[in-house]
Amino acid sequence: MYAKTVIASSVLSGLAAAAPAPPGGWAALSIFDAAGSTYSHPAGYSASSVASAGSSAASAASSAASPAASAGYTGADAPFADYTPTPLTALPTSFGTDSQISAIVSPAPSTGLYAPDTIRSSIPTGATSHGPFTGVPTTTGAVMNTPVVYPEGTIPALPPNPTATYYNTNGALQNKEPIPYTPAGGLGTNGTLPRYMVESDFDYESITLGLYQEWIELDTFNNGLAIFSEEDFLAAGLTTEDMELIRFMAQQEEGHATLLTNMLGETAPPQCTYNHPYTNVREFVDYNQIITRWGESGVWGFINHLDSREVGQLLAQSIATEARQQMAFRQMSGLFPMPVWFETGIPQSWQWTFLAPYISSCPENTTRLAWQNYPALHVVNQANINRVSPNDTGSWERVDNRTSSPATIPAEDESCINLNVTGYGCGPAIARNRSEPLSFAGKQVLLEWDTPGQAVGPNNSYVTAAGGVAGTPKFVAWVNQLNLTYSALTVTGPNQGYTFQPNGSIYENGAALINGTSFIALTDVDIFLTPFNLTMINPHVVALGMYQAG
Ligand SMILES: *[C@@H]1O[C@H](CO)[C@@H](O)[C@H](O)[C@H]1NC(C)=O
Ligand SMILES: *[C@@H]1O[C@H](CO)[C@@H](O)[C@H](O)[C@H]1NC(C)=O
Ligand SMILES: *[C@@H]1O[C@H](CO)[C@@H](O)[C@H](O)[C@H]1NC(C)=O
Ligand SMILES: *[C@@H]1O[C@H](CO)[C@@H](O)[C@H](O)[C@H]1NC(C)=O
Ligand SMILES: *[C@@H]1O[C@H](CO)[C@@H](O)[C@H](O)[C@H]1NC(C)=O
Ligand SMILES: *[C@@H]1O[C@H](CO)[C@@H](O)[C@H](O)[C@H]1NC(C)=O
Ligand SMILES: *[C@@H]1O[C@H](CO)[C@@H](O)[C@H](O)[C@H]1NC(C)=O
Ligand SMILES: *[C@@H]1O[C@H](CO)[C@@H](O)[C@H](O)[C@H]1NC(C)=O
Ligand SMILES: *[C@@H]1O[C@H](CO)[C@@H](O)[C@H](O)[C@H]1NC(C)=O
Ligand SMILES: *[C@@H]1O[C@H](CO)[C@@H](O)[C@H](O)[C@H]1NC(C)=O
Ligand SMILES: *[C@@H]1O[C@H](CO)[C@@H](O)[C@H](O)[C@H]1NC(C)=O
Repeated sequence: MYAKTVIASSVLSGLAAAAPAPPGGWAALSIFDAAGSTYSHPAGYSASSVASAGSSAASAASSAASPAASAGYTGADAPFADYTPTPLTALPTSFGTDSQISAIVSPAPSTGLYAPDTIRSSIPTGATSHGPFTGVPTTTGAVMNTPVVYPEGTIPALPPNPTATYYNTNGALQNKEPIPYTPAGGLGTNGTLPRYMVESDFDYESITLGLYQEWIELDTFNNGLAIFSEEDFLAAGLTTEDMELIRFMAQQEEGHATLLTNMLGETAPPQCTYNHPYTNVREFVDYNQIITRWGESGVWGFINHLDSREVGQLLAQSIATEARQQMAFRQMSGLFPMPVWFETGIPQSWQWTFLAPYISSCPENTTRLAWQNYPALHVVNQANINRVSPNDTGSWERVDNRTSSPATIPAEDESCINLNVTGYGCGPAIARNRSEPLSFAGKQVLLEWDTPGQAVGPNNSYVTAAGGVAGTPKFVAWVNQLNLTYSALTVTGPNQGYTFQPNGSIYENGAALINGTSFIALTDVDIFLTPFNLTMINPHVVALGMYQAG
């Protein structure tokens, strides 16, 4: 019998510590429920309900007692898993110095090849200035020159690259290997000296955009910690240990900003001034899970198109960290940590469109970007992650009308934030399994979109525009996982309409196609595109928005 035992009785509670009471006491609030239910496993294990272990393999089949296994899975017969949790009867009570492990003073290298490079940003000491920009821009529009090749505004489709022919039918090496254990092929594998610098305008503009992103993350993570107190965090179900995680994430951004600066050179932009949307901790973590979503997806969109493989290498190692940040902020927002099988990629102009409205101003001479700013696409009935019943979300339940601004907090009796009910609570947790999903196939999605020509971004110095050849909007493009899919747009008025969330799964019987914090666009055509040619959608985009699907 290899079934894991699931028992409800509580012997000792190690859980109360998840969110210790702040001085003054919050007992009346249910924050302890919210934080405690972070660990919805039983606090203790009662010996009485332990099913007799170690019996025959036959009873292993009854490991229907492993209720979480995927439907149809029959492989529960595993001798290594004969485990019954021992009853919890004692916990450590003293935490002082124990035995000493010997160590010697080992100075870190400060000169030479193995010395650390200098960090670009100073350690911030607190809130810098924030808020909207009120001045007059000194320059306007994206960095641009005259396009030489395709004045018609789209890049014509071509057949596959003539070298895209390799196909292995016998599992053997097809070409002579240069040295043993080293199969032929790959890029940057022939001994050439790596150069960790951008190699084209494409690279330069992509990494500069990435740096703008790292700077806003560095600021928002620090800003939330600077303006909200431990009590504020506790009220949102987050402890001082969670605050430490956010502080460390901000420091990661110092490293990422330094890395990207080094790959760009002297024109790398500095940190700007930001106008964040949040007014409390819950909104702060929600905003962060959204901005890290496009921070991560923006990089997945361009990383394999970079000319510089060296830059791609280091960037991949930073975006792996960013992906973890996104997941952690989802968990702090009570969202299922990763409701998709694949994280999606988006074009640079999409990332810039989402990011720009939160930058109020940048210092004089800050390097400008060549990417486009599209008009905003608003989801009028965007699911509110803080509602016990997301179906009850009304119109415009967002802190403000920028597309990545967080959900508002509903009245206490409609909020799931402090609720300790499995399937309904949405306080911070390793995982939440909502009985009523935020969104679903067939949901009617009410949309409104802005007219082009609005000033956005640093110093209001960029101007929104629709794609170069975009006509009247007819479709809603959904970018999720590995897929771009379309639904028909029904226009109901000027800059206003609706669609229905598409049905489907990524692969047959697989995860739902649309889930997580995701992306939608209004387009005039429904061209078929895949992750590596998705940017060909850009000239057809009328407006761009975020969609909170799970
Ligand atoms: C949350 O609810 C469960 C089930 O009702 C209960 O066992 C647990 O003790 C509660 N947790 C807290 C922290 O109140
Ligand atoms: C080495 O490989 C690179 C591509 O990674 C190629 O551009 C270069 O020509 C190669 N150099 C030699 C000497 O083969
Ligand atoms: C943007 O505005 C700020 C604050 O007014 C100003 O210091 C800065 O020089 C402006 N930046 C640009 C590029 O004009
Ligand atoms: C901005 O750039 C110009 C031209 O390179 C230079 O003369 C000026 O000193 C710079 N201003 C700042 C504040 O760096
Ligand atoms: C939410 O709406 C969907 C679609 O109409 C429906 O299937 C579901 O039952 C609703 N949930 C609740 C709790 O009303
Ligand atoms: C967002 O825009 C809508 C429509 O113009 C408006 O009704 C709503 O009040 C706006 N929301 C905020 C927070 O300003
Ligand atoms: C998770 O939620 C779904 C939808 O309500 C439900 O069908 C499923 O049983 C839940 N799983 C667990 C382990 O609670
Ligand atoms: C999205 O993922 C969550 C968590 O796995 C799940 O509960 C929800 O049903 C999913 N939504 C759809 C539309 O499948
Ligand atoms: C989604 O498609 C599946 C397969 O066709 C179907 O069984 C299901 O009812 C559809 N769901 C909705 C909400 O239309
Ligand atoms: C999603 O993309 C994958 C990879 O291109 C493809 O195999 C799959 O069929 C697509 N699914 C749908 C529903 O389009
Ligand atoms: C994009 O790539 C897919 C193959 O992955 C191809 O079927 C499609 O035609 C391409 N679209 C364009 C506009 O080139």
